[in-house]
Amino acid sequence: MKKTIFSGIQPSGSVTLGNYIGALKQFVELQDDYNCYFCVVDQHAITVQQDRLALRKNIRSLAALYLAVGIDPEKATLFIQSEVPAHAQAGWMLQCLSYIGELERMTQFKDKSKGKEAVSAGLLTYPPLMAADILLYQTDLVPVGEDQKQHLEITRDLAERFNKKYNDIFTIPEVRMPKVGARIMSLVEPTKKMSKSDPNQKAFITLLDEPKQIEKKVKSAVTDSEGIVKYDKENKPGISNLLSIYSNLANLSIEEIEAKYEGKGYGEFKGDVAEVIIQTLAPIQEKYNELMESSILDEILDKGAEKANVVASKMVKKMENAMGLGRKRK
Ligand code: AQP
Repeated sequence: MKKTIFSGIQPSGSVTLGNYIGALKQFVELQDDYNCYFCVVDQHAITVQQDRLALRKNIRSLAALYLAVGIDPEKATLFIQSEVPAHAQAGWMLQCLSYIGELERMTQFKDKSKGKEAVSAGLLTYPPLMAADILLYQTDLVPVGEDQKQHLEITRDLAERFNKKYNDIFTIPEVRMPKVGARIMSLVEPTKKMSKSDPNQKAFITLLDEPKQIEKKVKSAVTDSEGIVKYDKENKPGISNLLSIYSNLANLSIEEIEAKYEGKGYGEFKGDVAEVIIQTLAPIQEKYNELMESSILDEILDKGAEKANVVASKMVKKMENAMGLGRKRK
């Protein structure tokens, strides 16, 4: 039997090149060999303030992008988290198993709550909901970028805690990260992760950016004054970031690219990085535009929610039985 994969992306903005390299590209590579569930995790997005109309638009756009990058709905189940109520139900049960201390130690919670006066309780309890997303499908493998590693660790802890305390019902999932590009950095502050919710538009490239915008953003990416194209994350974070992007998208090793640009300046290198990005995104954008205009997207999402609901609601019943909630059912 095929092993199972689950992964999700938040519709909290326009999908970035970081999301593509860290997550989406891996999904496409894996879909032939695994039983895959891919999710638009809209309930995670509301842990921070969202504009209602923008959120609706981003949900649809993200679903279309999953398909445009190459997710095949015949092979993978694509659905929206809020259309499968088992996620929130299981999330609550796992919240009751989580300790406030361990949630407060999460890097993402610390980063996103830093300096804010009002922080939603949901931002703190995001990890048990993410654990629910994963555990409901007896997931074996979770392909994510490096920033999600800590959330995967707490997912494993919660699954083990539940299995020990109640009943041994959960599969303990493993994490999978890309070899190059697990953490694509901001183009403006290359020591910070590229994020779709970054208020500075120049910090990220979205999958829907036009060629001119991509060129402009790459050309103005912060680098250094050394003028040597060499990977050195500590001292040359900007150039190292561009090298990772180039290497991942062009399928060339970092050493091959360094050799190619020996004795050449940043101008030529940046021009080529932009070109590789533009070439990668052109077919994705074409497919995306077709999908947004057709009714097939809704059909795929309806079917996906139906399939996910069957699997996830069975698991919720198992969890409730194990915890002693409600009346015992088969
Ligand atoms: N910069 C990145 N490099 C590599 N992978 C990344 N991912 C995110 N940023 C990078 C991976 O993309 C997937 C989806 O992430 P998410 O939407 O669930 O939330 P996130 O990790 O918090 O991503 P963002 O873009 O930074 O969103 P916001 O700004 O809303 O917080 C995950 O697999 C993630 O690892």
